This record gives sequence, structure tokens and C-alpha cells, in this order.
Amino acid sequence: MKRKLFNRRTFLKKSSMGIAGTAGLSAVGAGSLYCNTAKSADTPAIRGGKPVRTKGFPSWPIYDDTDVKMYLDAFHSKKWCRLGSTRVDEFEKKYAELMGVPYVTATNGGTMALYASLASLGVGPGDEVLVPPYTFVATINVVPVLFALPVFVDTDPETLKIDADKIEERITEHTRAIIPVHIGGGACDMDKIMAIAKKHDIAVVEDACQAWLGEWRNKKLGALGDTGCFSFQASKNINCGEGGAIIGSDKNLMELCRSFTNNGRAPKEKRATFFGNPYPGLNHRMTEFQGAILLGQIRRLEEQQELRNKNGEYLAGLLKDIPGISEIKMYEGQTRNGYHLFMMLYDKKLFNGLPKAKFAQAMRAEGIPVSTGYTPLNKQDFIEYHLNMRGFKSAFSKERLNKYRRENHCPANDYVCAETALWMGQTVLLGTKKDMEDIAEAAAKIQKHSGKLL
Ligand SMILES: Cc1ncc(COP(=O)(O)O)c(C=O)c1O
Repeated sequence: MKRKLFNRRTFLKKSSMGIAGTAGLSAVGAGSLYCNTAKSADTPAIRGGKPVRTKGFPSWPIYDDTDVKMYLDAFHSKKWCRLGSTRVDEFEKKYAELMGVPYVTATNGGTMALYASLASLGVGPGDEVLVPPYTFVATINVVPVLFALPVFVDTDPETLKIDADKIEERITEHTRAIIPVHIGGGACDMDKIMAIAKKHDIAVVEDACQAWLGEWRNKKLGALGDTGCFSFQASKNINCGEGGAIIGSDKNLMELCRSFTNNGRAPKEKRATFFGNPYPGLNHRMTEFQGAILLGQIRRLEEQQELRNKNGEYLAGLLKDIPGISEIKMYEGQTRNGYHLFMMLYDKKLFNGLPKAKFAQAMRAEGIPVSTGYTPLNKQDFIEYHLNMRGFKSAFSKERLNKYRRENHCPANDYVCAETALWMGQTVLLGTKKDMEDIAEAAAKIQKHSGKLL
């Protein structure tokens, strides 16, 4: 493995020896041409050298003529809304089978899946919901719009998930729910989280918006909590532009969730009249177009995930040869990774003090799309904005809001955001073995030259 990874470097070593050996014998012009080529390939692209890759990674989304036909069939059917049609119903059925749960409600996005879950659990003014600070902002947004407080629990710096050992110290008499986020597709420590939730009688809303097909002890992520929420937004491993789903096993709760996304209508079999709207609700329905696209996309989900997992494991193995950059750790109970992101931990000490943002920039110059990742959500302006809203001031005492402000610190998360966390998106993992070797080769190249890149 090492040999393959350092092929290019071995070649460079050999070729520069060749250059030295022939310099005295051959014409000066030929010698300097070799020299330039070798220098160019060994110089970081950010310093004007030749990048490891000029070719892109697989483009996204992937579709074929059948997908197009399925979409057009929805169009020609003239049934564009799911009410009175079948495509979204059919997708829900397939998704329920895949997730191993009895109930699925499709929504118009993952955000709305989270929002409908919390609302259906009765989360409201004065309540507190435990959330991680290392996630996409939607996980948090859904809490204060219900006039509840998002209480941040610090991040486990090894896994980038909520630190389950820090949950209990954040629970109060007002805590109603916890949102563990399986960020990047890897599982949170669900044994600990479920045990704490049971002990304190708080609901678990899994944010599995990045974790389709991921598993905890052979059960699908999203199927362990009271509800599991998924996103099918454009960047996601199964995508219909915008879309989402709530999954669950509790009949009554899932009935409320469905109703919440359907203007509060009662389920068909319970409707006294067609316009019976006994529950709270808005319209967050999925359209038949989204249903048609998802029915096409779901055909490839398993095969594509298998490839992501194979490549993810291979890449993680290659990175073991490069001290200072590694895949994040996974908890012992994770039986399958739902890879949406390939998340890494960076140690600048082993890169001559090169900051992670500079490393990411240098990798991008080599043709490897490395992101510096999320920024600390607990410090974003929207938190203070909500705390100053009239609704918040009437739902919470001044003392409670000030206590919240005082306690809103996540030092481990600040550290990972600033220093260690990096990731690449899922399409990278749909590449070839050689693509994974290019990633490791680029990281090794940057490490070799890191002292000069400061
Ligand atoms: C972790 C996480 N939660 C929630 C969401 C929200 O999903 P959507 O964009 O479908 O509303 C996303 C999607 O971007 C996400 O990545």
C-alpha cells in the first residue's frame, strides 16, 4: 500500500538521480528540461507546481433515461400534488422497507422533518432541546422557531459527534428532547444517548439527514429514536433537489407528524369529513415530481453506498501512513457507515505548524476538494437574535436567558472547528481506488513541503 502511495515520489527520486547522473554528460538544455518537470511535479500546486489531479471527481447527481422517463411520467400524469396520486406514497413504502420501520412521512425537506418531529412531540415555549454545535444550521434553527432553547452539548473531538458523556450535565427540568446528529453519516453513541433519554424521560429526534443506510448495531440510523429525520436535498446521497422524510415506529406520534406536514388533516381512515383538520399543522408535503425522482434514485442507493464504504475504508487505511491526518474515530456500536462526508482530523504539529485552513487550501490546489468544515453554531448571531425576540422574553425569565448565555460554551467544539476538523463530500467516495490514492498522495506531498507553506 505504501509503495503504491509513494509511486510518484519514488519516480521523482529516481528521476532526479537520473538528472544528476546525466547532467555532466548530456546537453545542458535537456538537463534543465528534466529539472523543470521534476521540480514542477514535486512543488505544491499552491506554489505553482503541477497538481496531483486535474481531473474532477464524479459529478452529482447520477441518472439515466429511466429516471428521466419516471419524471416525465409524473409530469404527463397531470397529478403534480401527492394528494390523490401515488408516487410519494410508493416512495414512502419503499423507504419504510429500507429503513425497517412501519411509518414514513415524506416532507419537503430535512429541516421540516425535524421541525414537524419537535412540534408533534409538543416542544414549545419554555422548553429546552439538547443539540450538538457541530452540524448544519438546520438542526438548531428548528428549536428557537418553536420558542424553545437550543442547549448546546459539546463535541467529542475524536468523532465530531455530540459528546454523550456531557449530556446529563446539561439536562434540566425543562429538557424535552435531544437531537443527536449522525453527522457525515457516522453514528452517534446511541447506546449512551438512548439510556440517558430513557432515564430522564426525554424524546430522541435523530437527525439522520446525512446518514441514509448507516447502522447502529445492525439497525438503521434514524430508526432508534422517537423519530428519525432525513434530507433528500441536492447534495445528499439520495437526492430530489429538495425533500425529506420522518421515520418512526410510534403510530400516534407518526400520525401527528404526518398531519403536521399536511395542514393538520386527520389520517384518511379517521377523517370524519374530507376537510377534517383536528391537529396543528402546516403544508410541508412533498410533490409528485420529488416522489418520481426519488423512486428513480433509490434504485442506486445501496450500490452507491457500498462503493462509498469501500472507498472510505481504503482511504482511511492510506491515511494511516501519513501522521497528522486521519479519519475521525467511529463508536464501537456502529455497524455500517452512512458516509455522506469523509471527515478527518488534522494535527498541525505534524505538518510543521501549517494551519488547517492552509492545508485545505493547498489540497484544493492539488485538485482535492477539502473543506474546513462547520463553524461553531452556538456562537452564531441568530442565537442572540432569538433570545431578544418578544416571544422569547415572554417564554423565559431574564435570569434564565442570562444563565443560558453564561453557559453557552463548547470549548472542544471551538477547538475542532479552528484546528482539526476537515472533510470531503460524498461524491469523492464514488471515485476509483486510484482517486483515493491521489487524495493520500496530495496529503503526503503537502506534508513534505509543509514547512515551506507557512
Ligand atoms: C445535518 C443536517 N440536518 C438538517 C439538514 C436540513 O435538511 P434540508 O436541507 O433538506 O432541509 C441538513 C441538510 O442540509 C443536514 O445536513
